[in-house]
Amino acid sequence: MSDEALIAISKRPKAELHLHFEGAAPPSFIRGLAKEKNVDLSGIFREDGSYDYRDFVHFLSVYEAATSVLKTPEDFARLCTAVLEQSAANGVVYSETFLSPDFCGGGDVGAWREYLAAIREAADHAERTMGVTLRGIVTCIRHFGPEQAKSAALCAAETADDWLVGFGMAGDENKGKQRDFAYSFDMAREAGLKLTSHAGEWRGPQEVREAVDDLRVDRIGHGVRSIGDLAVVDMLAEKQVTLEVCPGSNVFLGVYGSLAEHPIDQLRKRGVKVTVSTDDPPFFHTTMEKEYGDLARCFNWDASVFDDLTRNAIDAAFCDDQTRETIAKKLELS
Ligand code: ADE
Ligand code: ZN
Repeated sequence: MSDEALIAISKRPKAELHLHFEGAAPPSFIRGLAKEKNVDLSGIFREDGSYDYRDFVHFLSVYEAATSVLKTPEDFARLCTAVLEQSAANGVVYSETFLSPDFCGGGDVGAWREYLAAIREAADHAERTMGVTLRGIVTCIRHFGPEQAKSAALCAAETADDWLVGFGMAGDENKGKQRDFAYSFDMAREAGLKLTSHAGEWRGPQEVREAVDDLRVDRIGHGVRSIGDLAVVDMLAEKQVTLEVCPGSNVFLGVYGSLAEHPIDQLRKRGVKVTVSTDDPPFFHTTMEKEYGDLARCFNWDASVFDDLTRNAIDAAFCDDQTRETIAKKLELS
């Protein structure tokens, strides 16, 4: 593929469905806040200024250390602007982001409302000035356990509306079972929220099946290791459960040795609805433009494949249908 064709693909308008809000914080932003608040975070950065961690579990603890300097609703509003500047610079016109009440008021509904209001105001301003539309998904953290997840679900249920559109689960997939969180997912579903859960990033196909069967999710975060059992792959295709695939994240964290070994192309060819996201872009040294360029180069995907990915993302977005139509036009989908 020519350089011009690659550039054209990487510059396409995009929709991103899987972006951890704190995980999208540029390291310079976190360092700036740490300095303002006199917090010593030098242990989580490399000399070149990037985040420093050894493996996935260590990544989660560095993530939580970085997040610890985000204290007030105003801090989260500033983060929102910094994150959406990156999204807009990468041609993203619609994004869904994972927000954790655990980090925004410790699961207290009253405090959560204040954080959410501040984030929303910043997002509304960014929509007017940068042309990127954001929606929120409340996310419980698996390794914080099912009881804490109930507080997150209650925050989500109490604030569900046209902006706060989903509930999900992130965190350490090797802790507990999907079904341990069924109470929280049921509460969120009853409040009208759409559902997604991280599964099949670290554990295998059975984990993906359990997320679908036990939590009745609409989408799966990652889901790539479903490739180990074609019956699970076919179930995803048949039920049209969309995968939020984050190829650069998977390669950086060592789920796959290289992009060429990543199953996204096999999943797509077998009929699974796949989409592309960055997960925690500065942690994995990626951007949406980089993801698009790398995929086009590695799998020789032409514009029609990216049309399919974009269509999948807009079809599986948790926003209301009026927003979906507006975004489809911006994405140049008919
Ligand atoms: N939280 C932030 N990034 C995550 C990931 N890739 N997997 C699970 N939990 C996360
Ligand atoms: Zn994730």
